[in-house]
Amino acid sequence: MKFFIDSADVNEIRMANDRGWVDGVTTNPTLVAKSGRSFEEVIKEICTITKGPVSAEVISLKADEMVKEGVALAKWADNVVVKIPMCEDGMVAVKKLTSLGIKTNVTLVFSVMQALLAAKAGATMVSPFVGRLDDISQDGMAMVNEVVQVYRNYDFTTEVLVASVRSPMHIQTAALIGADIATIPYKVMQQMTGHPLTTKGIEMFLSDWNKAQGK
Ligand code: E4P
Repeated sequence: MKFFIDSADVNEIRMANDRGWVDGVTTNPTLVAKSGRSFEEVIKEICTITKGPVSAEVISLKADEMVKEGVALAKWADNVVVKIPMCEDGMVAVKKLTSLGIKTNVTLVFSVMQALLAAKAGATMVSPFVGRLDDISQDGMAMVNEVVQVYRNYDFTTEVLVASVRSPMHIQTAALIGADIATIPYKVMQQMTGHPLTTKGIEMFLSDWNKAQGK
């Protein structure tokens, strides 16, 4: 299972990368705005931290403009993946960018049918948003399970990238389902690291060691 970090904060990305947790990065306009940096500058820097795929999202909503934007984004670095929102124009753009050899990540996917259409258009990755579905009392992980099943039924090569992750349980369930990738906020990666019994065990080992040394 590949882990991407869902962030445009280069300090967080470097920390996660130093811990061996970064196979790629996803950004979106909200995360880039939060970084307070220029889009081009931050994406180019992220692409020097990891050789893995780095998603950069288009802003246009018309197919030909998305393609133009995507072609320009792909020139920023070899590992840029063009993130395209799920919509009809987006599918035209995905088909065209794929034919040009440019990788795509179809974002804002909330149903199995959207994921099926994105795969048929040739998307490299598809991003089902689990947390935002959970927020409206729909089961985000159940949707991911069905997307994985449908892709397996028909041997689609599009990778399932679980997005809008809010908790370690989303990652555990994604791993059990067999999703290809999860993109994870750094805070959730930290939550996945800890266990109260690990903390207690470390303290106990240290205390017993010190007692034996007469400290
Ligand atoms: C990543 O590709 C998505 O843009 C991101 O996971 C969305 O997360 P959010 O629903 O927490 O904003």
